[in-house]
Amino acid sequence: MNELQSQIRQLCREKNAIIMAHYYQRAEIQEVADFIGDSLALAQKAQTATADIIVMCGVYFMAETAAILCPHKKVLIPDATAGCSLADSCQAADLKAWKQQHPEHIVVSYVNTSAAVKALTDVVVTSGNALKIVNRLPQDAKILFGPDRNLGRYINEQTGRNMDLWDGCCHVHNRFSATRLQTLKKQYPQAIVLAHPECQKDIINLADVVGSTAVLINYVKNNPQGQYIVMTADGVEYEIRSACPNAQLIGVGNACEYMHQHTLSKLLNCLQNESSQVTVEPTVATDALRPIVKMLEWSK
Ligand code: 13P
Ligand code: SF4
Repeated sequence: MNELQSQIRQLCREKNAIIMAHYYQRAEIQEVADFIGDSLALAQKAQTATADIIVMCGVYFMAETAAILCPHKKVLIPDATAGCSLADSCQAADLKAWKQQHPEHIVVSYVNTSAAVKALTDVVVTSGNALKIVNRLPQDAKILFGPDRNLGRYINEQTGRNMDLWDGCCHVHNRFSATRLQTLKKQYPQAIVLAHPECQKDIINLADVVGSTAVLINYVKNNPQGQYIVMTADGVEYEIRSACPNAQLIGVGNACEYMHQHTLSKLLNCLQNESSQVTVEPTVATDALRPIVKMLEWSK
């Protein structure tokens, strides 16, 4: 541990704080975290956390979800401008208008959304539980799904549904190129392709394993000797390399700039000054809590 990391750990002890980090965080942040996970695991962990302070090293909606689940805890984020292009692609007012055009539809929202969007939602999903949750909805249900068109199309294909899709996407996953992937596959014919469902269809069609960051990481943990082409954002290699030093990873090098906004010095500052605190307006939080809790219940 370096000096900054030691100071961070010391402050966590003094303030009864826990650091939660998404798998896309810089390695030095993951090294100092108490808990590392995908979006689903971060929400599950927040729900049961006993610390007084939760420091969320993830993008803003992840901190909002923790604040909604833990209204009596202080939820902090090292850089409050760490947003998400996918969450930004769906504004609450636009979703409201879409809902008004389709009054009989159930609204299923990806967790990568603002609290205001979740407040207009019937059930939230993550990439880790989306298939399970959509499969629980009545077979004849009319569904609006947003904001990720790529994940939505993947769910439709896997479940045989015909959900209406919002036209949003993640700029990081959308920039993976199928031509480059074909080249890598020729170069490494034995390699297994791991892809996040936020990738476009032409990438998913070439993938051997499709799933959330945790699903992709766990696949490697169960097959630790393999060669892998990784079609998701940087950061997942930290957990894989720690657990599976013999796994060969190819193609990483596509970071989520938002996730990388958090640095050790910002994290230290955040703990020292207990800022920035993430809060959600109470009426929005009450309405957003319902579809999040439903998701957590239906994930069991
Ligand atoms: P996971 O739920 O798989 O962790 O994904 C979060 C995310 O933002 C992917 O871009
Ligand atoms: Fe949002 Fe994409 Fe970054 Fe995930 S990788 S947090 S979806 S911008």
